Amino acid sequence: MNSQTNRAIGVFDSGIGGLTVVRSLMERLPFENIIYFGDTARVPYGVKSVETINRYAAEITEFLIKKDVKLLVVACNTMAAVAHQTIVDLSHVPVAAVASQKIVETVPVLEVIDASARIAIQKTRTKSIGVIGTPATINSNAYARAIHLLDKEAKVFSQACPLLVPLVEEGWFDHPATRLIVQEYLKPVIAEQVDTLVLGCTHYPLLKPLLQDILGNGVNLIDSAEAMADIAADLIDQQKIGNKNSSPPEYTFYVSDLPYRFQTIGERFMGRTLGRVELVSL
Ligand code: DGL
Repeated sequence: MNSQTNRAIGVFDSGIGGLTVVRSLMERLPFENIIYFGDTARVPYGVKSVETINRYAAEITEFLIKKDVKLLVVACNTMAAVAHQTIVDLSHVPVAAVASQKIVETVPVLEVIDASARIAIQKTRTKSIGVIGTPATINSNAYARAIHLLDKEAKVFSQACPLLVPLVEEGWFDHPATRLIVQEYLKPVIAEQVDTLVLGCTHYPLLKPLLQDILGNGVNLIDSAEAMADIAADLIDQQKIGNKNSSPPEYTFYVSDLPYRFQTIGERFMGRTLGRVELVSL
């Protein structure tokens, strides 16, 4: 492992959704190299067991550590919610041994839940906050815990929305079927009159216009991809690990299933061509 600041940021996700985080990172940190891993062969994670999600998260972390990344960004809310500790445990990398003592470098790990919770608490006026996410994220209670750590009085109303990931992957961002399903999912949250809604899943930023239309402009939408880009920029600044090269950055995408679908949908997610996408098996 080397100390050069041009080492890439490693971003990982269960599939394609983490590209919303990559898009925010590219805008916020335009000189940083990025290596992305999307587990397209095993997506979705949001409906899988905690044990399985932890096992997958460990394999991806090991893959990116071998790529010598300088920072690990867990784009996937589901992995952040249930496998954060597993990822942190693997982020301590032995780099040398001196007199039989191991020297360890710790690769910083950023996860989105704390960042989104902070922004939600800053934005809410009524302390009534809604959270939407995959079943695994909502069942973990990770968002409610993070919000209550910041403000014990906040009221959190969580709603799992398992059908939204496939609808977004289909590109149905403003389809009548999506509108109907979103309205149904949001009924209990709207009934509680939340003034802030955390979009606790990589895919939901693509539904922002629809969600805002249904909820009205009085409700703040907390975009977890933007929250992640903000904390990544702060950490890079604090630790002085920003890339000093001003040459165009390199973006490399690895996937675990044939790249064609990733490339096509990914370009829709990103609004730009992706470039190199490589198939790897973990
Ligand atoms: N990336 C997941 C998340 O943010 C959504 C897709 C999945 O279920 O794997 O929760």
